Amino acid sequence: MQTVVEKEDSSSSVIELARLSETAQECRKCTLAETRLNVVFGEGNPSAALAVIGEAPGAEEDASGRPFVGRSGQLLDKILLAAGFARQEVYICNIVKCRPPGNRNPLQDEIKSCLPWLLAQLQIVKPKVILILGKVAANTIFENQLSLGSMRGKVTKWNEYDCFITYHPAALLRNPNWKKGCWEDIQLMMSHYEMLCSKINVLENKN
Ligand code: URA
Repeated sequence: MQTVVEKEDSSSSVIELARLSETAQECRKCTLAETRLNVVFGEGNPSAALAVIGEAPGAEEDASGRPFVGRSGQLLDKILLAAGFARQEVYICNIVKCRPPGNRNPLQDEIKSCLPWLLAQLQIVKPKVILILGKVAANTIFENQLSLGSMRGKVTKWNEYDCFITYHPAALLRNPNWKKGCWEDIQLMMSHYEMLCSKINVLENKN
C-alpha cells in the first residue's frame, strides 16, 4: 500500500461531506434532475491525499448512487490497485453528479450548475494530488479545449492541487492500446505523490 497521508480533523470532513451530500441530493439546478434516478455525489476517504475526478455517472452509477461502479469503475479499481491504492483510500467523484441521458457529454450549462458541488467537495477533502480522467473532465477543470494528448504526461497546477490527467477508463476499454500511456501517467503521478508524502512526513516529524 502507498503511504496514506492522514490529515487532521478527518471526523469533521466526514460530517461536512455528509451534510453537503444531503443538500446535493435535493439539487434541481439543471434539467438532469428530471431524468436522474440518483444524485451520484462521490465516495471514499474524506481526507484522502488523492482524489479522482471523472466525467459523469453512467447507467449503473445512476441506479446505485455510487461513482464508477460499472465496467469503467472496475477498470479504475484495477488501475488504482496497481498503483498501490485500495479504492476506499482515495476520494472518487465526477464533474457532473447526475447522469446525462443516453450517456451524452454533459452540456456547458449542466457543468456550470454542478461545478460548485465539486469545488465544495475538494475544499473539504483537501487532496494533495488529483487524477483527472478524460478530456471532458480536464477541459472543464482547466477551462480549455486542448486535446488530451497535449495535457497528459505532466503535472498541472489547479488552485492548490497538483493534477495529473489521463485517459478515461471507458476510452481504455474501447482502445486497449492506450493502456500503456495511461500506466505511464499513473507512474508519473505516483512518483510525484510519493515525493509529496515524504516531504509532508519530514515536516511533520520536525514539528
Ligand atoms: N464514467 C464516469 O466518468 N464516471 C462514473 O462515475 C462512471 C463512468
